[in-house]
Amino acid sequence: MDFKSSSLQLFLLLLASIALFHPISTHDLDHIHKSSHFLFPQHLLGSRKDHNIEGIHSVKTYLQRYGYLRKNYNIIDTNGAHNNTFDYHLESAVKKYQKFFKLNESGILDVETLHQMSESRCSVPDIFENDDNETSVTTSKLHIGSKYTFFPGRIKWPSWKKYQLKYSFIRNFPEEFKESVSAAFMIWYERSRFNFTEVVENEEADIRISFEVGNHGDWHPFTKEVLAHTFGPGDGRFHFNAEQSFSVEVTYGKYHVRTLALHELGHALGLAHSTNEDAIMFPSLSPNVVKDLDMDDVNGLWELYDGFDDAE
Ligand SMILES: *[C@@H]1O[C@H](CO)[C@@H](O)[C@H](O)[C@H]1NC(C)=O
Ligand SMILES: *[C@@H]1O[C@H](CO)[C@@H](O)[C@H](O)[C@H]1NC(C)=O
Ligand SMILES: *[C@@H]1O[C@H](CO)[C@@H](O)[C@H](O)[C@H]1NC(C)=O
Ligand SMILES: *[C@@H]1O[C@H](CO)[C@@H](O)[C@H](O)[C@H]1NC(C)=O
Ligand SMILES: [Zn+2]
Ligand SMILES: [Zn+2]
Repeated sequence: MDFKSSSLQLFLLLLASIALFHPISTHDLDHIHKSSHFLFPQHLLGSRKDHNIEGIHSVKTYLQRYGYLRKNYNIIDTNGAHNNTFDYHLESAVKKYQKFFKLNESGILDVETLHQMSESRCSVPDIFENDDNETSVTTSKLHIGSKYTFFPGRIKWPSWKKYQLKYSFIRNFPEEFKESVSAAFMIWYERSRFNFTEVVENEEADIRISFEVGNHGDWHPFTKEVLAHTFGPGDGRFHFNAEQSFSVEVTYGKYHVRTLALHELGHALGLAHSTNEDAIMFPSLSPNVVKDLDMDDVNGLWELYDGFDDAE
């Protein structure tokens, strides 16, 4: 498969479709440029149930990675070949994905859906699966209109920690980005009862932050669209994808480190993904975008820790 030229074709097609439906503006162009690449071949555009097209398997793999298709759903057939059948399960997974990202819930791979799937994002799943149960996340209705979710079992830091966590930069973490990450810790500190202290690499730390590449030994290899991922409370590993371009200041085509770190630290504290686009816990992030915490994020953390009322 010629990935590069098909990505380019999809890019041109998108450009053409936008020009057709409304006058092209710099905002539109900006939006397109923000996706530096398209992950899926252009010929998948318009695919729907009962189609069988080369490349459908890559959409299945993508949706399975983020929790929209169950882990026991077979993408590889018994003969070892990729299964490209757009079946009922894939259709309902596409609909779930479209619902999460507020797209038309058609089950069809339309431009908006393929575009959203090509956005850079965090690789923590949007939906978690219980072993014998339907996919689910623990969510809450305490705050009206809230969209925040928690990890399964609402994992959080135990109360004996007294909300005092230590963090360290490990494995040659780039010096230039340390201040941005520390600034993200400060922002969470100001909006919670957590207190974060940086410790040196060889001291024990609750949150360990590093730059990693590809398959880096935690069973969650980085793929092309991934910016970072973080394991929840009790684990605390926070990995940036070293193959992406990051920046301290807002820089064209680069991902703002403090913004991404705010998101990842949300995971380190126990938040999962939110469907609220303004929330820092929304899964995707465009280059040169700066975000702060939203009430959705702050409310989520306060609910998870029961209003921090067991603080001394
Ligand atoms: C591919 O998947 C479809 C739908 O799940 C299934 O019906 C079909 O048998 C699979 N193909 C092969 C060759 O196993
Ligand atoms: C949903 O579909 C309608 C009709 O096809 C289209 O006009 C609209 O732009 C679509 N909206 C999104 C968010 O894709
Ligand atoms: C499945 O979910 C239900 C309701 O959430 C729960 O009561 C039950 O224990 C779960 N079963 C398993 C095997 O996890
Ligand atoms: C944070 O916790 C440390 C102890 O771990 C304490 O010395 C320090 O004063 C605390 N900082 C704030 C701002 O509460
Ligand atoms: Zn995330
Ligand atoms: Zn990792």
